[in-house]
Amino acid sequence: MTKQSNTALITGASSGIGWELAKIHAKKSGDLVLVARSRDKLDALKLELEAQYGISATVIAEDLSKPGAAQRIFDETQARGITVDVLINNAGFGGHGLFHEQNLVNIQAMMQVNMATLTELTHLYLKGMVQRKRGRILNVSSTASFMPGPLQAVYYATKAYVTSLTQAIAEEVAVDHVTATALCPGAVATGFVAAGNLEGVDIWKQAKSAQSVAQFGYGAMERGELVAFNEGKLKFLLNWVVPLLPRKTMLKMSRQAMEKA
Ligand SMILES: NC(=O)c1ccc[n+]([C@@H]2O[C@H](COP(=O)([O-])OP(=O)(O)OC[C@H]3O[C@@H](n4cnc5c(N)ncnc54)[C@H](OP(=O)(O)O)[C@@H]3O)[C@@H](O)[C@H]2O)c1
Repeated sequence: MTKQSNTALITGASSGIGWELAKIHAKKSGDLVLVARSRDKLDALKLELEAQYGISATVIAEDLSKPGAAQRIFDETQARGITVDVLINNAGFGGHGLFHEQNLVNIQAMMQVNMATLTELTHLYLKGMVQRKRGRILNVSSTASFMPGPLQAVYYATKAYVTSLTQAIAEEVAVDHVTATALCPGAVATGFVAAGNLEGVDIWKQAKSAQSVAQFGYGAMERGELVAFNEGKLKFLLNWVVPLLPRKTMLKMSRQAMEKA
């Protein structure tokens, strides 16, 4: 009997949560397509995981903020005859500061990486999953997706989009045995803090490890969960307290959480 393929394409695999997700998938004997800008880091991860777990990893170095990136990645996997059974849209970044003072080019890149490319990759790979009646999608969203975020306005809005899109798609393709999961972590200790100029923001003092969040998220994806929170306290607050707060109070609290010390 031929072995069923189990290839995961992971964006943002060069660091943080994506790096850890790649390790978890390889440990389960799954092949990988590793995507990010940093080719050297992806090459190092490929060598490590191939040697340790006997899997096959393909590196695709792409800047996901560039229009057409998703199509180029899809074309490359097609040309190499790779079937993507698991799509993990993990790449993303934030940015601290007042909306009107932020660099517009950076804002556009953030929207492209966090939303547009994620949407395009999902569209391109989901069709095959539906045809095969088998597949999993894990979109790395955030607890930020449950409220507006003064001082990280665009980032929070992009994550609201991701959690919304993921749930709607999950409902559409449940009949086809394909699952879509939105992973919603709180603060995680990764390169995200430096990349988004978030040093000094208090909530990262209690950040969880990328390894623990990846382990939790991968499990939630396997179970086909819809929206997965790795922190029970945040799950409770966001589902049962935040929606009941007066909006202006909620916005002030949300802003406070992003103020620098
Ligand atoms: N850390 C947190 O507190 C936290 C909380 C909630 C949700 N999240 C989400 O978790 C996901 C992973 O972030 P992380 O915390 O693991 O941060 P990270 O360590 O900074 O990793 C981000 C990954 O995204 C990739 N990436 C960024 N911009 C890219 C671009 N233009 N093109 C291609 N790849 C790009 C980076 O690779 P290259 O630089 O090599 O391109 C890197 O591999 C993100 O979606 C983030 O929003 C993080």
